[in-house]
Amino acid sequence: MPALGDATRGRVLFGGDYNPEQWPEETWADDMRLMKDAGVTSVTVGVFSWARIEPRPGVRDFGWLDRLMDLLHAHGVGVVLATPTASPPPWMGARHPETLPRDEDGRTVWWGSRQQFCASSPTYRAYAAAITEDLAARYADHPALTMWHINNEYCTHCWCDETARHFRRWLTARYGTVDALNEAWGTAFWSQRYDTWDEVIPPRRAQYIRNPAHLLDFRRFTSDALLECFRAERDIVARHTPRTPVTTNFMPLWSGQDAWAWAAEEDVVSVDVYPDPKDPLGGQYNALIADMTRSQAGGGPWMLMEQAAGAVNWRAVNRPKPAGLNRLLSLQAVARGADAVCYFQWRQSRQGAEKFHSAMLPHAGEQGRTFREVRRIGAELAALGPEVAGTRVAADVAVLHDWHAWWGTEQEGRPSREVAYPEVVRAWHRALWEGGHTTAFAHPEHDLSGYRMVVAPQLYLLSDAAVENLVAYTEGGGTLVCGFWTGVADEDDRIRPGGMDERLRALFGIGTLHEWWPLARGETVTCDGFTGSLWSEELQAGDAEVVAAYRDGELAGLPAVLRRGRAWYVSTLPDPDGLRDLLGRAAAGAGARPVLGGLPPGVEAVRRGGLLFVLNHGREPVEVAVRGAYRDVLTGATVAGGALALERYGVAALREAGRDGSGTAPGYVGRGGSGTA
Ligand code: GLA
Repeated sequence: MPALGDATRGRVLFGGDYNPEQWPEETWADDMRLMKDAGVTSVTVGVFSWARIEPRPGVRDFGWLDRLMDLLHAHGVGVVLATPTASPPPWMGARHPETLPRDEDGRTVWWGSRQQFCASSPTYRAYAAAITEDLAARYADHPALTMWHINNEYCTHCWCDETARHFRRWLTARYGTVDALNEAWGTAFWSQRYDTWDEVIPPRRAQYIRNPAHLLDFRRFTSDALLECFRAERDIVARHTPRTPVTTNFMPLWSGQDAWAWAAEEDVVSVDVYPDPKDPLGGQYNALIADMTRSQAGGGPWMLMEQAAGAVNWRAVNRPKPAGLNRLLSLQAVARGADAVCYFQWRQSRQGAEKFHSAMLPHAGEQGRTFREVRRIGAELAALGPEVAGTRVAADVAVLHDWHAWWGTEQEGRPSREVAYPEVVRAWHRALWEGGHTTAFAHPEHDLSGYRMVVAPQLYLLSDAAVENLVAYTEGGGTLVCGFWTGVADEDDRIRPGGMDERLRALFGIGTLHEWWPLARGETVTCDGFTGSLWSEELQAGDAEVVAAYRDGELAGLPAVLRRGRAWYVSTLPDPDGLRDLLGRAAAGAGARPVLGGLPPGVEAVRRGGLLFVLNHGREPVEVAVRGAYRDVLTGATVAGGALALERYGVAALREAGRDGSGTAPGYVGRGGSGTA
């Protein structure tokens, strides 16, 4: 099976989306000059080129793309060639309105932007297959081709009649009979019983709260329907180029795709990630997405397909990245396993919806601060490539995450609309990140035996197999820490008797779960050692130790955190310090150690291959105490027996002096440290 290494060939790829069809061809020579200057080794071409390649149905214009591919090859730049199927040309919607998506109200989603296709439309699929076939046939043997990029950020949802037919086929395969569907969806409630398959429709606008199991299955179906589109195009390109890796770019922690299922179908897992420069914890978010993507790639190298060199254009206020932040986040991705650091996009557009979105080469041009920083990153990645490309990142703590559990929590009639699954996952990852642990992500049914500690921030819905897996993991010696609102429902969103799976209640030593007590936004509850927010639970301990109790409010005196041996249950969301301490205690008991102890706040340490990366996410310089002798492969400087100085947003990539880069990671480096972040 092809892999990212087939495209990187021992390098860390550097580049971005390249949309030269937006520019006169005279500009291309300047692009080549500046790409060389910046150290660009890879560009993604053709993502939105459908109307240019197929200006009217069946017509092909590949001339410009032939010239472009040749030009890039002549300049030593590899091409990740995209199928253009994310943005059908206007002629498709005009001639074939059935290819246009319909929203929940039945309203048409028109052309004029992008991604206006119905994944269930046979007409859309036929056109997409035809252009993919011709593209693959034409460039299969082109020496510039290094990878295929299918579509772009699959995200379209549709509620049309064609989708309804497709949904019914999907449900028939899942349930077999309408009776089984009725049972799974609990349609005895509110007279929702279906008599025939034809009565089943996508969950369109309705009078009041809709059936949650229906909504859940529609999420599953939509992810699968889009995946069918991906597979169809992937199979076409793979037939032409069996040794060329194939990817499609995920959006970060996005609810629309079950990325565990998708990643299993890709040769290369790639992601687009845009931390908000205004967010003081943007570095933690970047780390989370890196950890999740690397885990989807089986712990091996992954591709940062898109990030912004500066500002984006889609937040309420779009701040550029301050000097050094682009470099910091790029090197952080490498430290956490990326073998490709790429951007949206190479040259900033002068027209269209993204003319205010930054690029590697922004409006300010080659003299601008952004381009100068891009050039520095390109040079540093060239130096880092031989040190890290193809290597793995060790993690002995895993965070459990499952899209189906997420979908289950997002239903309309739930105890609290203030609980947002991604926020809870992020809070738990933050606690581990600030505690200095390198984390992986895992699905609750994965083999967890390689981890010393596993945490489940929130898994509302768990299959029997998942429950048994968690129990077996803990009984096998693993430490499990679960957050609130976990194990509540089965795969069909049927509440488990007692409000939580009885095997889990036994595991945590919970006697009775009397009630869920969600907290209003801003409301807090005092517990032993921390303050809780978002949620609390009226629990009675069974044979568990009460680690912390509620100290005020309705639940005063009742357990907040329970522990039975290696299984911990946390029934609220502790404040950041409290959660960090709690998970730190559990980790210490599990033998999971931080990469480095006692780092100053905002300083991150990660080992990859033979290197120890130390990254300062703070806006102030900081010093980290160092024991032993190292060489910083980014600067060539020797770091020995003293303090490692990191400037604001500074990064060091340390190799133990005397090692050739292929040896084991350096040992202990720092303890304590001064300065603030
Ligand atoms: C996504 C898309 C790109 C571009 C960027 C803007 O990552 O894939 O085409 O629109 O967002 O941030």
